[in-house]
Amino acid sequence: MIDRDAIRKALEVVIDPELHRSIVELDMVRSIEPSANGVVDVTVSLTPPGCPIKGHFQTAVAEAVEALEGVTHVNVYFDVLSDSQKAALQQKLGRASLPAGALAQVANVLCIGSGKGGVGKSTLTANLAAALMGEGKRVGVLDADVWGYSIPRMYGLGSTRPDVSAERKIIPLTAHGVRVMSIGFFVEEDAAVVWRGPMLHKALTQFLQDVEWGALDYLLVDLPPGTGDVSMTLAQLLPQAQFLIVTTPQPTAQKVARRAAHMADKVALEIGGVIENMSSFTTPSGERFTIFGEGGGKELADELDVPLLGRVPLTMPLREQSDGGVPLVIEDPDDPAAQAIHQIARGLIAMTPAALPVLPLVEVAPADDAPPASPKPVGMSLPMA
Ligand SMILES: Nc1ncnc2c1ncn2[C@@H]1O[C@H](COP(=O)(O)OP(=O)(O)OP(=O)(O)O)[C@@H](O)[C@H]1O
Ligand SMILES: [Mg+2]
Repeated sequence: MIDRDAIRKALEVVIDPELHRSIVELDMVRSIEPSANGVVDVTVSLTPPGCPIKGHFQTAVAEAVEALEGVTHVNVYFDVLSDSQKAALQQKLGRASLPAGALAQVANVLCIGSGKGGVGKSTLTANLAAALMGEGKRVGVLDADVWGYSIPRMYGLGSTRPDVSAERKIIPLTAHGVRVMSIGFFVEEDAAVVWRGPMLHKALTQFLQDVEWGALDYLLVDLPPGTGDVSMTLAQLLPQAQFLIVTTPQPTAQKVARRAAHMADKVALEIGGVIENMSSFTTPSGERFTIFGEGGGKELADELDVPLLGRVPLTMPLREQSDGGVPLVIEDPDDPAAQAIHQIARGLIAMTPAALPVLPLVEVAPADDAPPASPKPVGMSLPMA
């Protein structure tokens, strides 16, 4: 009789096309039953019941096992992973707390962060989102800078308050085709809002779970400067997110690199790449000045062993548009900074999967249970809280 272990070994070549791992490694081979006449029954567990890639498994499993000597026929059967098996699989994939519900239809989450402030995170977030839109993608922007939000201004969204649906979900505002959510929609302009600890955690949780994001190819998250609470909370809520690190070209990148790498390490999020901003300035007569130095982005990318996604030059229109309400990539796509941002958007599309293998499962604790009740929060509640 053919050895079970040999069959299991042969099945290692069968790759789940969504999860990019072998079905053996993913523990999806439920049973292997060889019989004396060379017939082998293999049962494979799938994640959703009506898995559209069943045909792929059928063929790949049969072919892999039939190649073994002594096998005359292979029957491939399917069952569905139990909830606990799905949870174990999700754990294995490092997506233990993937929020279900509102974010289940978001394919890619990209957090735009930096080691220090004022390097252009918000400007790049607003423009990258618009550039991704221009490439035909469905895009959302979450302004996670709860203390210094600037996305509403960059998108020309003033004092409009988002509606709340009958299901008590907040409907994001839409600007230039991008769905936008910001704490700025809920507070008076320039009001000093203190978001700390549990309150902050709750606000961010609500932005991710109680906002009707709908189906998105990309959710871009504009982080506050530094490596504090917000990043930690988001990393907990979004273990599948990638960090994009924005830096300026000064060759002091080493210091920032260490800080950024430390943050990524601390929050165990993958760094997708580095964007160098304020790279150089070219005068109308074509003279180029490297105002903030040169090479920092490359240095940082090398230090972190991630790609340099692009270099965005300093241009006056990019600075001016921050207050104008229309992203530069829409207003003046020929501006050199707009062109660089478009290029980065195309690079992002090339490096991110069309759809993340989101598993429709795992109960997420309701927001109210999440943080411990210690220090008394100072702040405010969102309308649907
Ligand atoms: N490439 C550029 N060319 C010209 N101006 C730029 C460029 N990038 C950013 N700016 C300007 O620099 C300033 C800071 O940018 P921005 O607010 O996007 O930075 P930030 O990293 O989000 O800051 P913070 O850390 O405070 O959130 C803004 O006035 C913006 O218009
Ligand atoms: Mg900002």
